[in-house]
Amino acid sequence: MAYRSNEPYNELPGLPPRVPIETTRVMRRCVTASRALAELKGAGNLLPNQSILINAIPLQEAKLSSEIENIVTTQDRLFRAVVEEPGRVDPQTREVLRYRTALRYGFDALQSRPIDVDLIIELCSILRNDQVSLRDQEPVIIEDANAHRVVYTPPRGRQLIVSLLHNLVDFLLTPGDLDSLIKLAIVHYQFEAIHPFVDGNGRTGRILNILALVQAQLLSIPVLYLSRYIIQNKQEYYRRLQAVTEEQDWEGWLLFMLAAVEETARWTTSRVLAIHELFETTTVRCRQELPRRVYSKELMELIFTQPYVRIQSVIDAGLAKRDTASNYLRELERIGVLQAEKSGREVLYRHPALLGVLSA
Ligand SMILES: Nc1ncnc2c1ncn2[C@@H]1O[C@H](COP(=O)(O)OP(=O)(O)O)[C@@H](O)[C@H]1O
Ligand SMILES: [Mg+2]
Repeated sequence: MAYRSNEPYNELPGLPPRVPIETTRVMRRCVTASRALAELKGAGNLLPNQSILINAIPLQEAKLSSEIENIVTTQDRLFRAVVEEPGRVDPQTREVLRYRTALRYGFDALQSRPIDVDLIIELCSILRNDQVSLRDQEPVIIEDANAHRVVYTPPRGRQLIVSLLHNLVDFLLTPGDLDSLIKLAIVHYQFEAIHPFVDGNGRTGRILNILALVQAQLLSIPVLYLSRYIIQNKQEYYRRLQAVTEEQDWEGWLLFMLAAVEETARWTTSRVLAIHELFETTTVRCRQELPRRVYSKELMELIFTQPYVRIQSVIDAGLAKRDTASNYLRELERIGVLQAEKSGREVLYRHPALLGVLSA
């Protein structure tokens, strides 16, 4: 049956795709992308305290992935929001924070169970801050906003969506001949084509990408700014998704996604190395310039875990009681590592060098 963009695509084929996938071009790209990813994994292991990366980098990914959906905040607002009173944080920034919460939730879940349909629903529920369920008869369409034209209408009916999702999860988890990176790209198309929710599909799908890499042990922690490439090539991203539907152009899609993995793996590696280097130089400097009673390795790790900290962060980390904690931060301000900044009646301490490295 011919494909019609304004009728539910109930004939969406299950996985695996029935066309040759591992073409020479795809395999070549897959090799270089895998290599770049392995370097990122190795760089991540350089940092003794993984929570440094696990906090800061996924927050960036959350920002960019949300931006693809026109949910916009600034990096600064986002990092501040982590330590601010929720009432002071604007709704869009809160939404981006929920993206990170969902990514983190998924990552923690993988320690004890594999990706499954329930986990996917949980991720979308966290993102949307609501108990969401799979679509049933709701009329959901994907429009080209500029041309005011329906580009795609996903399959309709809960039963159909459930069976397509089970097929997707089976494909992802069943070991086979296909490379994990190629599987990830295939699954991302399929997830977006199923479009199982009324909203939140793009973001849930991009969280799944990162989780699939962790599950395949291609990453040990959820750090990869995949959405950076996607947002820089947003029109192509949409066009390539649609070309799989209309022309079964899997090769074009796979090459796009593999390039995304490769380029963002390189970029993320450079960020991780820069954080590592800054951590080392800052530690040396603080050890020299801070009074002995103030300096500790744990304090260094704390100011690298969040680009903004407050007195309560020091207390929560178990480093000191209130008065001493406040003294620690003032000492760090005195030697110019942190900068004090007001937030209502509270003082936040900003770490400009770390912010610089994260946004470079
Ligand atoms: N032609 C298409 N076919 C399938 N999926 C698409 C197409 N165009 C865009 N998408 C996906 O749909 C997502 C938007 O869906 P939506 O449910 O609004 O997600 P979110 O709420 O996270 O924005 C895009 O980010 C993209 O992943
Ligand atoms: Mg949306």
